[in-house]
Amino acid sequence: MLNILVVGSGGREHAMSWKIKQSEKVNQLFIAPGNAGTAELGENIPVGVSDFEGLKKVILEKKIDLVVIGPEVPLVEGLHDFMLADAELKNVKVVGPQQEGAKLEGSKDYAKAFMQRHDIPTAKYLTVTTGNLPEGIAFLETMKAPYVLKADGLAAGKGVLIIADLAEAQASLKEMLDGQFGAASSKVVIEEFLAGIELSVFAITDGKDYQILPEAKDYKRIGEGDTGLNTGGMGAISPVPFADQAFMEKIETRIVKPTVEGLKKDHIPYNGFIFFGLISVDGEPMVIEYNVRMGDPETEAVMLRIKSDFVDLLLAAAEGTMGQQQIEIDERAAAAVMLVSGGYPGDYTKGIPMSGFTDTVNSILFHAGTKQKGDEVVTDGGRVIAISSYGKDMNEALAQSYANAEKINFEGKYYRKDLGFDL
Ligand code: AMP
Ligand code: GLY
Repeated sequence: MLNILVVGSGGREHAMSWKIKQSEKVNQLFIAPGNAGTAELGENIPVGVSDFEGLKKVILEKKIDLVVIGPEVPLVEGLHDFMLADAELKNVKVVGPQQEGAKLEGSKDYAKAFMQRHDIPTAKYLTVTTGNLPEGIAFLETMKAPYVLKADGLAAGKGVLIIADLAEAQASLKEMLDGQFGAASSKVVIEEFLAGIELSVFAITDGKDYQILPEAKDYKRIGEGDTGLNTGGMGAISPVPFADQAFMEKIETRIVKPTVEGLKKDHIPYNGFIFFGLISVDGEPMVIEYNVRMGDPETEAVMLRIKSDFVDLLLAAAEGTMGQQQIEIDERAAAAVMLVSGGYPGDYTKGIPMSGFTDTVNSILFHAGTKQKGDEVVTDGGRVIAISSYGKDMNEALAQSYANAEKINFEGKYYRKDLGFDL
């Protein structure tokens, strides 16, 4: 029986906690810092994801056996490395890569060089700093519109610019290098634009073997028809209808396997999740980005489709026994619809009372930005709650989530009613 600590506070961490809690191997579950939803599954501990000393205290006090790191920030900041370097923590099991592996998400330049080295299909690119700006300007002239500019470092999902006009792209390149995204854009990756339809594929690995989790598609734009500003994600569906067996096999042989093999060849220790942000270009999968964690809101759909004991998979990743694991997938479809605060992704108000939870039927509510305030649950973020449902297909799962989306109330509530429109 294990004491497990989940690090994070979003819908992803609630969904993982929900799945972890179904395992008979769990003694106690803790979430740091968690949200009003995770509080129903385990004990929330008010320690932030970057407070390594605070997390150490929790791990020792609560006799934690397994730490599952949800978001990218503590991974890129080196939480796993911190634990390995600490005499009292080094034997605690961890799911989530060390800093070197986390660079696959923390540095676009590092990720592109990795893909190039290991022949993994991705867009043509050039990395630019103030040192080779003229080369960058000239490289843009060799490309066709639109132009893709990416801040090298973490920029909370805002560091990618897609620009139609050449002169404007050249000006933007300079602005980025001048600190538009702070240190994150002191290097900029210029990339060939890829046209196609995107999907998210996930693997869990111990650095030697891997298991592929159900794939998903997320909807990033705030507006219907994929219009308006980018958000953290407005919903997700799984499976992805166009990702048939033949396509998934291409993804495995051309992308997933070479990535895990590449980590081995480069002597990069890696255990945890790999999120492949992919695009299908005329039926051929290419990598847009790596993330070193699960996707959010994809996790709020993907967890519903994992039939296996999730704790077994987590333990196998932490202990290096993934080669002995099998994963069993639920045949049903799953959908997650995200309810967000009015005004999001711009300014919005927090602390708005929520109601209607007990009126919902046949959905699972995964809290993203909520907080318990007295006996009330109030909004505490832009993305507030994901409504996840099963269905025989995507449309049935979505219809169920939409029916319940009507029942949860808070002033300013907004959600997209067209998820799956493009499939
Ligand atoms: P990223 O942060 O790298 O995932 O980029 C954010 C979004 O920008 C992606 O989800 C894509 O929609 C888009 N994008 C990134 N790179 C490219 C590319 N090379 N071609 C077309 N769209 C891209
Ligand atoms: N849903 C995309 C992400 O988690 O980055």
